[in-house]
Amino acid sequence: MDRFKIEGGRRLEGTVRISGSKNASLPAMAAALLTNEPVHLTNIPAVRDIITMAKLLAHMRAKVQSEVYPPTEVTISAEEISHAEAPYELVKTMRASVLTLGPLVARFGYARVSLPGGCAIGARPIDLHIQALEKMGATITVDHGYVEARAKRLHGAKIHFEKITVTGTENILTAAVLAEGETVLMNAAREPEVTDLAELLIKMGAKIEGLGTSELRVQGVEKLHGTSHAVIPDRIETGTFVVAAAITGGDVTLTNCAPRHLTVVLDHLRRCGVEIDELSESSMRVRARKGLRGADITTEEYPGFPTDMQAQYVALATQAEGTSVITETIFENRFLHASEMIRMGANISVDGRQAIVRGPSKLSGAAVIASDLRASASLVLAALVASNTTYIDRIYHLDRGYEYLEAKLRDLGANIERLSSPS
Ligand code: EPZ
Repeated sequence: MDRFKIEGGRRLEGTVRISGSKNASLPAMAAALLTNEPVHLTNIPAVRDIITMAKLLAHMRAKVQSEVYPPTEVTISAEEISHAEAPYELVKTMRASVLTLGPLVARFGYARVSLPGGCAIGARPIDLHIQALEKMGATITVDHGYVEARAKRLHGAKIHFEKITVTGTENILTAAVLAEGETVLMNAAREPEVTDLAELLIKMGAKIEGLGTSELRVQGVEKLHGTSHAVIPDRIETGTFVVAAAITGGDVTLTNCAPRHLTVVLDHLRRCGVEIDELSESSMRVRARKGLRGADITTEEYPGFPTDMQAQYVALATQAEGTSVITETIFENRFLHASEMIRMGANISVDGRQAIVRGPSKLSGAAVIASDLRASASLVLAALVASNTTYIDRIYHLDRGYEYLEAKLRDLGANIERLSSPS
């Protein structure tokens, strides 16, 4: 298993180009199942989850082509799908496989998808996805670890999500576009990745209103056609590099990003003393010349402070003056990074869904273990400011969602290298 070796203490300086959004690319790739015509996606990040989704679609006998490997653009043609199934072997490595459920049932009337199971950060059930599909006329059976869904043709329904669910909203959106009649999704997720999916579906001929709001209104159509679409920049990678620049007291310009997608994060970091300026539609400059001040955050669904930025913020809070109370409202077990940072010298106390960080702390390099995608990123951030050397194990978690992370950090002056060891 690969690991990172990081020598801390370097200021990051220069320019970094942000990659396309993993969490916009995955539903977009699944949505290609809704038509027999080619769907061409660009600005795709070259990360492990994209390759897994490509394998899954190929397993279903969709044609998946890309000019380069790992893919940063992909053309998917789901003319005939002889295998409307997402097997456990693939789903266990990527929960987002569940995003094929909606499109398969909508177009082929059948889907068999392995239950994703829990992960490090929580149980992550898909009960809301299933309840909504049943309301749309699907007959669902769950056994032997698989969800099997059948429907002659889905019909529209009024769906009120009792909890805001990102992939639940995406699954039902892709089911509704080919269903008979009108579907209204209430208490829908408003993440930019959901809106980007809706924009792709509209380009394919879908009729959707209410983009960006918590109520999406869909008029089902008979057929969708192919199209080309560039996915939005990755707002979590963007936030991760903003924190990297701030925590090292650096001076970094981010390009190919979308500052408008993380307004709450940027406003919050400004309150902590981070200087974020020279903003344009697709770039910003980040510095932190006067030290950092702690502040409390509570994670919320979009447009609130995203749970996927919580671990990165904890790393910043360890270097900020004062106390920061971090409350995690989305997932039940998302402070796994705290124990590893404590071993590096951070002053963090975790109680259930709350972490109290007192700073600034002098961090010293240590051997630590990554537990999930965003926790891994926060350990990289801590290592960038720790004295001496940090080794981070199990960085396959990072490879799932960050494109060329060590190369991008090295280009900004970080002393980081990947040590490959036979797994
Ligand atoms: C998406 O996961 C993202 N993944 C996650 O990013 C992100 O952390 C999460 O949304 C929250 O923003 C992708 O988009 C591929 P949810 P998702 O359904 O859709 C509960 C990353 O780092 N819930 O919005 O699985 C659930 O347990 C990943 O890239 C139910 O109870 O999250 C959680 O507590 C990590 N029943 C809350 O809702 C359901 O049927 C929000 O989950 C569905 C969800």
